[in-house]
Amino acid sequence: MLTSTLTREELAARIDAFPRVDIAHTPTPLEEMTRLRERLQEEGHTAPPIYVKREDMTGLAFGGNKARHYEFEMPHVVDQGYDTLINIMDYHSNNARMTAAAANKAGLRYILILTNAAHRKVQGNLLIDKLLGAELHLLDQFQSADANQYAQDLKSQLEAEGAKVYWLQEHLFPRVVGMAGFIRCGLELLDQINELGLENVHIYGVAGRSLCGLMLTAKNLGLDWRFTGVTVNYDMPLNEYIFQHADDIKELLDLPITFAESDMRVLDQFVGEGYGIMTAEVVEAIKMSAQTDAIILDPNYTGTVMAALLNEIREANVTPNETIIFLHTGGLPALFTFANELAR
Ligand SMILES: Cc1ncc(COP(=O)(O)O)c(C=O)c1O
Repeated sequence: MLTSTLTREELAARIDAFPRVDIAHTPTPLEEMTRLRERLQEEGHTAPPIYVKREDMTGLAFGGNKARHYEFEMPHVVDQGYDTLINIMDYHSNNARMTAAAANKAGLRYILILTNAAHRKVQGNLLIDKLLGAELHLLDQFQSADANQYAQDLKSQLEAEGAKVYWLQEHLFPRVVGMAGFIRCGLELLDQINELGLENVHIYGVAGRSLCGLMLTAKNLGLDWRFTGVTVNYDMPLNEYIFQHADDIKELLDLPITFAESDMRVLDQFVGEGYGIMTAEVVEAIKMSAQTDAIILDPNYTGTVMAALLNEIREANVTPNETIIFLHTGGLPALFTFANELAR
């Protein structure tokens, strides 16, 4: 084990220095998937113990990782006197839904610009967005190409009417604050790991900010946890999405150490045709998790991570002395938009 650079208390204090509202239901459970392991053993593989960190149970309008992000994001916005949020997201975005929920809790007006959204069936996240009362702008494909201009025009118009508008895509804070939320999750996970006496921890999750938050916990406390990040799309290069923000989060939280590309082993061969198009392996992963340990996964993110993990175990790329922790980041409403493919 490396020498600790911060104590647990010191790292917690860095996070606690930021205004936070209680939005997420935490601590989320860390649950063992014993039946999945048995199923893999029955297939003839030497499967290690598999645990799932249930970030799908954070409780905010169907749960997911963004509940932890918004615990910090909402006070940041409200304390600066903003009264209106603008967000541009894809039509089936989990983020869009959870922002709507958090905005309601914070009493903010929420303008949601959804790309490629015109004429879509109102189902999944889009349905929840509507129920939550998001002011929806459903762009067609043509308008979506110029979504930023659309948002800019809308922002100017709202400001002319007297609103104080926080357009999420215009700021750095929303791009990195999720990592802070997951440093907190990492501290929680550390307690659970210690309580259960787990060793050789290897965490699998979407290659994103949440996983980076856990990496930051591990790096700053000198823990020997290992990380595998699975990509779910082709159009979001990891450098742009996460790695370029390594120093931003370090500075924001005044951390001694940040993460590096080399801290995350990346698996990028499970995307298939592209984001939002389920592969046969993802369908199998969703059914297998449901039919063993009754863990429900989503078709875009966590299903892909599980497909990758199953492949890793079947290809003997994980050793039996490892303890796998699967980071379940939520995304469940999207399941219902794939009903036909999943029921087949
Ligand atoms: C279900 C789910 N998991 C993971 C992610 C990745 O998020 P992040 O980069 O914040 O970890 C997303 C992004 O929206 C998501 O919806």
